[in-house]
Amino acid sequence: MNLNTKQLKIGNLYINSIVSLAPLAGVTDYVLRKQIRNYSKTCLLTTEMISSEAIVQNQNCKIIYTDKSEQPVAFQLEGHKPDIMAKAANIIKEKASLIDINMGCPINKIVKGNDGCALMKNPSLAKDIVVAVKETVNIPVTCKFRLGWSQDSKNFIKFAQLMQEAGASAVTIHARTRAQLYSGTASWSDLADLKGEIDIPYFANGDITSIEKAKECLAVSKADGIAVGRANMGDVSIIYRIEKYLNENILLPEPDINEKLIMLKNHLDAEIKFRGEENGIKFFRKFYPTYIKNIRGGSEYRYRLVTELNYDKIISILKEILLNGTKKQ
Ligand SMILES: Cc1cc2nc3c(=O)[nH]c(=O)nc-3n(C[C@H](O)[C@H](O)[C@H](O)COP(=O)(O)O)c2cc1C
Repeated sequence: MNLNTKQLKIGNLYINSIVSLAPLAGVTDYVLRKQIRNYSKTCLLTTEMISSEAIVQNQNCKIIYTDKSEQPVAFQLEGHKPDIMAKAANIIKEKASLIDINMGCPINKIVKGNDGCALMKNPSLAKDIVVAVKETVNIPVTCKFRLGWSQDSKNFIKFAQLMQEAGASAVTIHARTRAQLYSGTASWSDLADLKGEIDIPYFANGDITSIEKAKECLAVSKADGIAVGRANMGDVSIIYRIEKYLNENILLPEPDINEKLIMLKNHLDAEIKFRGEENGIKFFRKFYPTYIKNIRGGSEYRYRLVTELNYDKIISILKEILLNGTKKQ
């Protein structure tokens, strides 16, 4: 380990990185996490949100698949019933380095059921969930939420204090409100108000898409760490490159199209191995646009790729891009 490596202590867990992977439903599956781990050996990875009800009903699903080589990994649970959340935590506790609780998901389907960001409107229930999960597992429990429900109800400071009181060992805050969904820009400066208000570490999240942005976000938010989400789609080296800069002041360039095509193929092959050929290819469709950007003829290539189910033909298209796909001026 580099002597300058920045570390974080989350409960009884030491993480040799201040950069974590933010959870992305339908995206941060075992396969993507492993692609990221091939670069960053130290960052905290996070699963996509896992429905506590589903886990309690059926323990054998792909969403909870992991292996030791991907640790440290946070398993994120979603739900609103303290007893079910605790049962789900109990089922996954051997697999996880820590349990994260989703208190920030803004989508209607989730908040209508009092899950996700709806918990920010019901802090005492949120607290009961943390207490119940904490009582069940002896690994750290963390929470991820937003600035608040809306612009005039930003309660993230009080909410973070309450989660700490309930036993949370760290919090991650997406610097938008629920009302904003994913629009506008993340307000990192709001997060600076949390400094000194809690004793546990906090991760700033939202719109970190480059080394520059990572540096800026840390300075503006005064956060102890950062969580990077969407930027991993199309560049599985981004967390590693941010860490390399923060720890060693080494500025690695963004991968070029050739490197991205190699990342894409490795990722696709691993999804096929994990899900089988047909399901793997179908699942992977969402990733083509994120890997293949800013190249001449990109939209045509992307269209051909997302409509292609034959592996050999997909590989031929990738070779064609490699030969012809020069960067747009
Ligand atoms: C497709 C998608 C899926 C997401 N799924 C989750 C999730 O399962 N759990 C969660 O806490 N946040 C989820 N988020 C929110 C992200 O973790 C993150 O807070 C948000 O994307 C902002 O960070 P970013 O700009 O680095 O992506 C999701 C966001 C997107 C776009």
